[in-house]
Amino acid sequence: MNPASNQEFIHVKRKRGKSATLNFRHNVDSSESLRSLGLNSNSKLQDTFCLTNDDIIKKLKVAQSHLEVSGFFSHFQGLVAKALQALDPLRSPNSPKILKIVCLGLGSFSDCIIARYQLALLTLLQTKLEIGSVELFDPIFSDQENAVLEELGFHVLTINEEGRRCVENDLLTLFYLPHCSHQLTNNLLFANWNIEKLKNCVIISNSFANIHNSVPPRILSQSLSFISRAGDICEEFEVKNCFEYSDIFNDTSIHVFSKLNAFHQMNDFWLDCSPPVYLDSDFVKSSCIEDIKPNQL
Ligand SMILES: C[S@@+](CC[C@H](N)C(=O)[O-])C[C@H]1O[C@@H](n2cnc3c(N)ncnc32)[C@H](O)[C@@H]1O
Repeated sequence: MNPASNQEFIHVKRKRGKSATLNFRHNVDSSESLRSLGLNSNSKLQDTFCLTNDDIIKKLKVAQSHLEVSGFFSHFQGLVAKALQALDPLRSPNSPKILKIVCLGLGSFSDCIIARYQLALLTLLQTKLEIGSVELFDPIFSDQENAVLEELGFHVLTINEEGRRCVENDLLTLFYLPHCSHQLTNNLLFANWNIEKLKNCVIISNSFANIHNSVPPRILSQSLSFISRAGDICEEFEVKNCFEYSDIFNDTSIHVFSKLNAFHQMNDFWLDCSPPVYLDSDFVKSSCIEDIKPNQL
């Protein structure tokens, strides 16, 4: 996870009585958080909320143009091609084609530059790889952000599956979880924990290898066991953090499950697939979803 975005959720009143959940740093009250972000709760934040859909799309287009000509984007495109080649060289003479993107935990892209550039990367990938279907879910999205995403031709999911999104039959799917909680990624792996599904998953998220090296073994085996075991069956392509802003694509890897064949016969590896249980969950749970939807207060 990006340490800079180690966040928790608080409610902030919007104009016209709307409320939204915004993510700010731990252990600080909202006005202090706003000050630390260089914002004044009465002015700049409200200005942000006055942006029209067109304003938000314009800002996104600026980010796209900036990213598209960057060395980072060339590197990233090359890495995606390499990852797809590794996926299954026997599948067809050409690299397999990604048919769908599912993005979880993007963040508030109308007012957060990190999320905006991450969305810009998604849109560029969609165009370059001619991917038809894009679905997104983040409980933090405001009504306006949902509307902008729909305007861009994307589908905003309405149910909080807590990351447990299953790949559809034979639809090679790119799951994009930029700086998402490890538990969400672990849930995604749990939902797809068999050979038929995993072979159709490409996961862009925090590096599994870094999680392995940084999380204590007890937590890895108890709470993040799917990430822990995924290390054995996937190949990881590390994204070089060479973009101008260093906190947008840091600690990111492309993971493809190219080593599944060796595990075909290893029943024990697949049998232990009981749902993960977290003592302290670090994502928004589905039971809380009503609490954090805009317009509820
Ligand atoms: C650490 S932030 C990452 C935000 C942004 N991508 C970044 O890099 O700064 C984690 C994101 O996960 C989202 N999130 C929390 N629970 C979620 C859930 N159940 N499903 C999808 N996203 C969730 C949060 O709202 C938040 O935007």
